[in-house]
This record gives sequence, structure tokens and C-alpha cells, in this order.
Amino acid sequence: MSSFELQANRHKIIPLRLIFNTELMSAELFEKVRNIISQIESESPADAEALEAFRLRYLGSKNTIKPFFAEMRSVASEDRKAYGQLLNEAKKKAEEIFKSTQEALSSDTDSALKGLDLTAPGYPIPLGSRHPVSVVMQQIISIFQRIGFTVVENREIEDEWHNFTALNTPEDHPARDMTDTYYLKGDLTRMLRSQTSTVQVHVMESRKPPIRIISPGRVYRNETISARAHAQFHQVEGLYVDEGVSFADMKQVIFHFAKELYGEDVKIRLRPSYFPFTEPSAEVDVYWGLNNEDDYRMTKGTGWLEIMGCGMVDPNVLEMCGIDSEKYSGFAFGMGIERQAMRKYKINDIRLLFENDIRFLEQFKNAL
Ligand code: DAH
Repeated sequence: MSSFELQANRHKIIPLRLIFNTELMSAELFEKVRNIISQIESESPADAEALEAFRLRYLGSKNTIKPFFAEMRSVASEDRKAYGQLLNEAKKKAEEIFKSTQEALSSDTDSALKGLDLTAPGYPIPLGSRHPVSVVMQQIISIFQRIGFTVVENREIEDEWHNFTALNTPEDHPARDMTDTYYLKGDLTRMLRSQTSTVQVHVMESRKPPIRIISPGRVYRNETISARAHAQFHQVEGLYVDEGVSFADMKQVIFHFAKELYGEDVKIRLRPSYFPFTEPSAEVDVYWGLNNEDDYRMTKGTGWLEIMGCGMVDPNVLEMCGIDSEKYSGFAFGMGIERQAMRKYKINDIRLLFENDIRFLEQFKNAL
């Protein structure tokens, strides 16, 4: 539309409204302003908050009376005076009520209590719940405590010896690479531990067998965050060293653990694997199911979810920690806690466990 047409249209509309609607509009406007006045008169703000709302409604820069001043030109000329007086009356009423209420409230020392029913019951305080990772960690700890394991915790900032060397990790092992491990700024001999296996070393260095411990805690890895992996997560390490400890003992302990955590009918399998600190080594899978797309994604199409690594403690590790490997043997295992929580509660994205979205967390209110 050209600006010329716009101008033309404007001329058409305004005169029509002025000629035909003035009377009707006047009556309507008078009626509306009178309504506002009676509305103002009926108000009695009970506290400072209500008074502020009142002020904004009738006296603030966007008050409800203001638009009616602008309507002055729609009122028939003989009625304009009366209309103006009515508007002023509305404004004055609002000012009066505001002033008198303000005075009353400030002179009333109990003003904060005004309008409150002190006998009313309090608002319920929403109860939080334990995070699913804590819930599962606690379950794991208690399963192992019941069969004689004690809980040991240790530091999260480690040295090379505890995180790698004493765990039989060769100098050129890729895990030592800076792309996997978070080293401290300016100190490449210290790092955020990448596994709770470090605690095995601390324990064996300071105690004599029999040793039967688990160690829960946080670990850190320079990983790309995805539905299955995170850069910071939790593990529980287990270590059992004594005379005559065998692979069969390990299998039974792990099977017992899986049944306790997942139920009698759980299915697990051990696959041969490799870890520098165990020989032989295995990985444990638990059956997840393969019914929908999520199951395929979570289990890479196998239906099985890997939940831990384990094996017989390598004699080199025992020796490096000062334990006679001729006399003693042991098994160790390490599992990701998030993994167990995901399997147990069918959570299909590990990131949910770190976002702290109340709607997600609330679902674990009744988890034991
Ligand atoms: N530390 C291993 C990891 O983080 C897990 C692990 C595997 C721990 C075998 C063990 C073990 O104690 O024996 O992937």
C-alpha cells in the first residue's frame, strides 16, 4: 500500500467514528470510568504488597485510568468537562486510598502480621530425596558389607605411582596419555584419578592380608560426553587378597552381588578381557534386553550392558605393593555406579544423572 493510500484511508475512518459514534461512546466511557471508581472504592489493601499492587494498578505509569484520558477526544464536546471531572475523581480517590493506607500501615507496628491468619497450618516444606547415584552406591556398599567387605575411601588427586605405575600400567599405555587423563595444571606428575583402582594400591601398601575392601568414589576422564559416557562419574572398587583366593571365588562373589542388586533372575556373563593390573581379566555384562530402539542403542545391539571389569590381581601388582605373591593371591573388580543405576532404573542417558532436573530426581523419592 502506498503512503498516499494510507493517508486516504485514515481520512475515511476518523470522520466516520466522530460523526456516528460519539454519543454512544461517551455513554460507554462514562460507564467504564464510573466502574473503575467503584472498584477503587471497594479496595482496601491489607499489607505493603497489596498496597504496591494497588499503586501500580491505579497510579503507576501503566495504570488503568490512563487510557481513558486519551479517549477525551471521542467524547462529545458538551460532555467533556464532566468526563474530565470524573477522571480526576477516579485519580483522586486512588490517591486518597493509597495515602491513607500507607499511613495506616506504617503506623501499625504489627503491619507485617496484618491479614495473616496465625492459626493456619504452615506451608509444607518439600522434602528432597537421595540422588539415584547415591541410592545405588548405598545399595552396593551394603551388599558387600554383608559379606564381610569394609569400606575404604581415598584421595581424588593422585600421583602416577598410584594411578598407573603400581597398577602395572606400562609407560606407553594410552591411558597415561593426556587426552584420557586430567593432569593438574603445571604438574604432569599429578592428576585427577581416572579409576578407583588407585585405592587398591593404598590399601595393599598399608595393610597385610587378609584384605577385603570396597572403595566407592568419584573418578575423572577426558571423555566426550554422550548418552553412555561422562567425564566425571563414580566407581566402586573391590579387592580381596588372602591365601588361596581363586577365580571361582571371584565369580561367585560377583554373581552374588548381581543377584542382590538386580534380583534372583538376573543374567550375567563374563567375557575375557585385559587390564594391566589383573591376569586373567574379565568384563562382566548384565542382560538389559533388546526390545526397542533404546535397548539397541544402550547395548550396542547386543542386549548386554557391561557393568564391571575384574580379574585376579597380577602378581606384579602384589609385589609392587609389598605383598608376597607366592603366598597370597587375590581378585579385584571395579564398576561404574552410573551404569548400575542406568541398568536398574532403565535410564537411557547418563547425562540425566548429572543435570539435577528435579522432575527426573523426584522419581527416585521412594527408591531404597
Ligand atoms: N579400573 C578399571 C576401569 O576403570 C576397572 C577395573 C577392572 C577395576 C578390573 C578392577 C579390575 O579392579 O580388576 O576401567
